[in-house]
Amino acid sequence: MDKTDETRNLDNATMAETTTPDMGIPFESCLIEGAPDPCMIVIVGASGDLTARKIIPALFNLFLTGGLPDPFLVVGCARTQLSHEKFRDKMKSALKTAKILDDQKWQDFSKSLYYEAIDYGELPSFKALAKSLKELNKKHGTGWNRVFYLAIPPSLTKSTAQMLGKAGLSGESERGNCWARIVVEKPFGRNLDTAIDLDKSLHEHFQEHQIFRIDHYLAKETVQNILMFRFANAIFEPIWNRRYIDHVSIIAAETLGVEHRAGYYEQAGVLRDMFQNHMMQLLALTAMDPPSLFQADRVRDEKVKAYRTIRPFSTGDLKDYLVLGQYGAGAIDGKRVPAYRDEPGINPESLVPTFAMMKVFLDNWRWQGVPFYLTSGKRLPEKRTEIVIQFKEVPHSMFRQILGEHISANRLILGIYPDEKISLTFQTKNPGARVCLRSVTMDFHYHQNYTGPILEAYEKVLLDCMLGDHMLFWRQDGVELCWSFLTPILKECEACADRAEILLPYDSGTWGPKAVSDLKK
Ligand code: BG6
Repeated sequence: MDKTDETRNLDNATMAETTTPDMGIPFESCLIEGAPDPCMIVIVGASGDLTARKIIPALFNLFLTGGLPDPFLVVGCARTQLSHEKFRDKMKSALKTAKILDDQKWQDFSKSLYYEAIDYGELPSFKALAKSLKELNKKHGTGWNRVFYLAIPPSLTKSTAQMLGKAGLSGESERGNCWARIVVEKPFGRNLDTAIDLDKSLHEHFQEHQIFRIDHYLAKETVQNILMFRFANAIFEPIWNRRYIDHVSIIAAETLGVEHRAGYYEQAGVLRDMFQNHMMQLLALTAMDPPSLFQADRVRDEKVKAYRTIRPFSTGDLKDYLVLGQYGAGAIDGKRVPAYRDEPGINPESLVPTFAMMKVFLDNWRWQGVPFYLTSGKRLPEKRTEIVIQFKEVPHSMFRQILGEHISANRLILGIYPDEKISLTFQTKNPGARVCLRSVTMDFHYHQNYTGPILEAYEKVLLDCMLGDHMLFWRQDGVELCWSFLTPILKECEACADRAEILLPYDSGTWGPKAVSDLKK
């Protein structure tokens, strides 16, 4: 390396440490917007997988980066009888498994961890919980601010919310100096009716401002960035419409199979598991109009307006709009994997789809006639989440005598995983004597020039919930509109006599059933 290179590298490193070079903003100022109020986080379902894999690691990371209030408490609740110490031991192992255990910091963090056994069906048990929480609140001074995180199977959500309410745990002070919030994981119901019913139950004891419906996709940095990219730059909005865009593909491909979630997945399938929530959010962020203000309800109003424009599929011609598949045996990363029907706990004759591709149209001025292809599936060749904006070809090729009528059109990729990047592909002249075009790609990597810590999705949602910010959470009208679109499709798919025929097999490690290419015509 010559001297000049060395100096340049040094300069870059110095800049990266203290500033985001383009804006001159120190990254520290982008981290946490004011500490949340002192509070207790009550995890209902604390013996489960979600708590160990996501919630406790997220809380520990927030603790490390100063994102938790002082004081704070975490109270785990579940059926299992556990002492506080045993619960702490379990959570310590969870952090070890997540490879983020720091023994020194753990000593401090663990002092804020408690455990209470509860019986989900028994009001006296919830009343006893309320008594213990009040005592803990008195001891630690958490201002009687409570987050109830329901990390439980969907079948228990309704009754648990009601029990919390009946035990007097949902109340807030009228003067606003103590609050209670409930965090609900998807699925929000199984269809439109059950979603409305679930919401009614939640509202018996909690008001809308107290309810936080999680969609962890919304908290991914690259997903949050879609709004910044679209609306903090003037150059994209004028071309973000039917005049310039040919089609949009939204892809969430996974290599994982059903894992240990047979009970849940057999009831859900890919349409309920991925489409009713994550795919619909990605669709809204790509298609919505600009909100007038970056504020939770203004943003959610625009998403709802986009959902209202989704053209319902006309029954009878589903095959023109939807391909459903189920994985068979195959190979992922060179390893043999079993068929869905041979996975533990799965019905050997199951007709549950693990793959879907949907062609969706939005009936409005911006998007009339532009197909949005939404694809998600398990056991595909790679884990990849991205939004591809495929622009139209040039209207007239002045190079046609040399290059023919068609010139590859521009393509913009908003990469969400694993490539957290934005890529724009365009045509340039290939150097040389002859006139030759070549496609080149300009890439922006999301972490370029950034060396600060990254908030993982669950850290962001927990933090926002403590701060009372609904921006990254579903609002019930959005939930209902998406169910209004999907419920008739699910009904038709699940009721029709040739159900086995509309479910196409695909080998694990391939890009889904062959019929997907017909849908793209
Ligand atoms: C969850 C689904 O919501 O999202 C899972 O229930 C899926 O089936 C997961 O695997 C995908 O999330 P991510 O963040 O890994 O893309």
